[in-house]
Amino acid sequence: MAVIDRQKWDKVYSHPQRKYPNPPAALIAHADYLIPGSLLDVASGEGAVALYMAASGQYPTTAIDISQTGLDRLSQFASERKIALNTQCLDLDDLQQLSTLGKYQNITLFRYKPSTELLKALMAALVPGGRLLFSSFNIQHHQTTGFSRRFSLDKREFMDIDGTAKLIHFAASSSAPYTDTYIFENPQ
Ligand SMILES: C[S@@+](CC[C@H](N)C(=O)[O-])C[C@H]1O[C@@H](n2cnc3c(N)ncnc32)[C@H](O)[C@@H]1O
Repeated sequence: MAVIDRQKWDKVYSHPQRKYPNPPAALIAHADYLIPGSLLDVASGEGAVALYMAASGQYPTTAIDISQTGLDRLSQFASERKIALNTQCLDLDDLQQLSTLGKYQNITLFRYKPSTELLKALMAALVPGGRLLFSSFNIQHHQTTGFSRRFSLDKREFMDIDGTAKLIHFAASSSAPYTDTYIFENPQ
């Protein structure tokens, strides 16, 4: 599956007319929940989240994705705007790879449907008090646009992932694009 995903996204990001990406509305609405310090942007693609956060100068940022083509595009956008950040090509289906990345104050995950196991692994990559801001398309987005059901979040799907993740905020958007946003804190 990961190979097919990589090929699909490499193709998307290799299009010569890709434009500098805008940050998702849910990031702008919820960025205040993040705490000072480092940030890991997971499944970053060409950097809609990572570039916005790194550009603020407040969050030393690392972007990870399975698509090296997406990360190259991100690095090109960053260099054009003199934004400093790091990238690493990594397969989220291999949770061992994640455990080599160290600990972060903040993790962002946008427009990617994770497994519960992945969310738990991301929580384990947070320092105590660290925050995970996760936002993706929900079932209403599927119903109104035909977006793939497989990649859509069920209603309140991750309200209770396990005892090590404290949910501090949840929001379902009331207008398109329909997304669910979760902010978890590592209470340990
Ligand atoms: C819809 S894009 C979202 C990109 C970015 N987070 C955003 O909101 O603009 C999904 C991203 O997930 C990445 N991805 C898919 N499968 C992956 C995997 N197994 N490991 C790491 N990244 C993966 C893709 O390469 C793609 O960049």
